[in-house]
Amino acid sequence: REFDLVVVGSANADLVVGVERRPAAGETVLGSDLVVHPGGKGANQAVAAARLGARTALLARVGDDAYGRMLLDGQRAAGVDTSGVLVGRVPTGVALITVDSSGDNGIVVSPGANARLTPADVRAASGLLAAARVVSLQLEIPLETVAEVVRAVPPITRVVLNPSPVPPTELPAEVLAACDPLVVNEHEARVLLGESRGVGDTPGEWAAALLALGPRSVVVTLGAAGALAADRQGAVLVPSPRVTAVDTTGAGDAFTGALGHRLAAGDDLPTAVRYAVRVGAASVTRRGAQDSYPTAAEVPAG
Ligand code: RIB
Ligand code: NA
Repeated sequence: REFDLVVVGSANADLVVGVERRPAAGETVLGSDLVVHPGGKGANQAVAAARLGARTALLARVGDDAYGRMLLDGQRAAGVDTSGVLVGRVPTGVALITVDSSGDNGIVVSPGANARLTPADVRAASGLLAAARVVSLQLEIPLETVAEVVRAVPPITRVVLNPSPVPPTELPAEVLAACDPLVVNEHEARVLLGESRGVGDTPGEWAAALLALGPRSVVVTLGAAGALAADRQGAVLVPSPRVTAVDTTGAGDAFTGALGHRLAAGDDLPTAVRYAVRVGAASVTRRGAQDSYPTAAEVPAG
């Protein structure tokens, strides 16, 4: 195959302001100078994988504007094939991000062009999708577009989905069934499982309950505690190296991009997760999303 990883997803300009703490309702706080970084969960995953050495392509939509050009430049500088990035009249997506003094973030995304990535765009990119060993998805583009990707890829293609932002409605069964793995953080796990179902409070219990929804495998990311990899044979808890967090924005995307890269290279799931955890940890030690992602040589020892 021509590509290890094809990412279908969003590209955003991240407008980032540092704050001591985020404002409460009705409150105003003063923050740092505004910094603009390339972001968006799809674009982030693509840069993460490409920087680690994966042959990577991105299928996305940006506007014909300065943010769109910044994102395309960032993809190309990382070595991502951008022949599938469509440029249209709707402005590039924007993420309004506050990062507090502990490195935690709050994000509001204005989807812009991302909302215009359609099932027809997916069908038009069938050649790109057929050239992928692994296809990686998130939910900052329409769910119907994600569902079309799942239908369009050849059966031997491995599909990775991070359902973020997690929708209030259930994910279609055909989408869940394609995931190998479904990659969720604690919040996404709880929403997908529904608060009321009494599924327990440990990552192992969430993973078991999520597997019952149909994915072939599940990864629960646990921030500084690492990640849990699970399939019907069992579960493995992978610890994270200890790092000082400066900015956690896009750490999940770094993890998932790295995971796709290693799965395409033939790693089994726990082995790929062990590597991806280290990539995610490296990303939180530097500011920004894509701007903070390591090369293979910069990935810390496990
Ligand atoms: O996951 C982090 C990303 O979420 C940011 O880059 C921002 O663009 C939003 O999409
Ligand atoms: Na970072």
